[in-house]
Amino acid sequence: MTIFTDVEMSPKDPILGMTEAFVSDSRTEKVNLGVGVYLNAQGKVPILDCVRQGTQRYLSDLKPCSYQPIDGLAAYNAAVRALVFNRNDDLMARAVTVQGLGGTGSLRVGAQFLKQLNPDAKVLISTPSWENHEALFARTGFTVESYRYYDANVGLDFAGMLEDLNAADPGTILILHARCHNPTGYDLTAEQWVQVAEVVKERELVPFFDMAYQGFGTGIEADGFAVTEFAKYDVPMLVATSFSKSMSLYGERVGGLTVLGNDADEAARLLSVLKVCIRTLYSNPPSYGANIAAQVLSDPSLRQLWEAELYQMRDRIKAARGDLAAKLSGLPKDFSFVTEQAGLFSYTGLNPDQMRAMRENHAVYGLDSGRICVAAINDDNIDRVVAAIASVL
Ligand code: LMR
Repeated sequence: MTIFTDVEMSPKDPILGMTEAFVSDSRTEKVNLGVGVYLNAQGKVPILDCVRQGTQRYLSDLKPCSYQPIDGLAAYNAAVRALVFNRNDDLMARAVTVQGLGGTGSLRVGAQFLKQLNPDAKVLISTPSWENHEALFARTGFTVESYRYYDANVGLDFAGMLEDLNAADPGTILILHARCHNPTGYDLTAEQWVQVAEVVKERELVPFFDMAYQGFGTGIEADGFAVTEFAKYDVPMLVATSFSKSMSLYGERVGGLTVLGNDADEAARLLSVLKVCIRTLYSNPPSYGANIAAQVLSDPSLRQLWEAELYQMRDRIKAARGDLAAKLSGLPKDFSFVTEQAGLFSYTGLNPDQMRAMRENHAVYGLDSGRICVAAINDDNIDRVVAAIASVL
């Protein structure tokens, strides 16, 4: 007997585990709408031109690969901070950004940091939310509860959300999706965000924005509305950024955690705590992806190219939504909502049995929650997806 003898098999991850099942499926006509990855019209993960050029510049002046600072690449962190706060100097002066391992790694560092500052705080996530939110904050030792957000019968349950936030204890950590809510694709309006900010201020909640899809909704600046609006209320705030989707840099794990303090002195103390968290989790982050992203964000011509390419991806997803809704019209279930949702995902309202049947009978992979990644639909696979959905209604 050893400590390993009775270890039980853990369940597969609901999202990345689905990719494992997809990869091992031998059917050639299979379609992966499980994981949130943008695929181009040819069904490929694109290499953005801005990233190609940024990489060439970086490699043409390759530096020795020593350790990075604990908080990562300074030029990258400054560029991320400017992106998060839309270049607002006042906010940038009292905020710190640390390089993170993608969006998830940035959330995890933020969770560790908050656990140190307020170990007894509760975490509130939306119903539903990205599956890993609950797992990640629970693993860090928090009690995770939920606030009402979306109900299949009412749609966005904003009244329920406000009621739940108003009942939260001071210090509660509130996980918010800045834009392109994952998994539903339903976002708050500007007026609703203002109302949430007022509750956050009054109830002394701690907003933690997951901003993994900046640019995929309306645009970079508009998608940051909630973050810049909340900052006006002088509340302590955290923002997790990811370039996995927006620069198509999934495997490089390029993200960042930005924390807004009250003034520059407070921000410096917060940074010192973040550095201890990072040092004990993974010491310091990798340099390659952050250097490429820093080139893209800092060079005006690459930045312009990035925005154009990002908006092309956004527009292709919107077109795929239109095509999907049109092809699904006339079925017993109304799918016109697909065009109202934003971002990579559509929450179809299909149940786990229906999603399983789509996988088993049609090799069309979505999540058991009913979420499908519209950003992976193209002219070659759309009819297969529509046939799969129609067959399970
Ligand atoms: C998703 O929601 O599918 C993506 O954010 C990928 C992931 O890490 O879960």
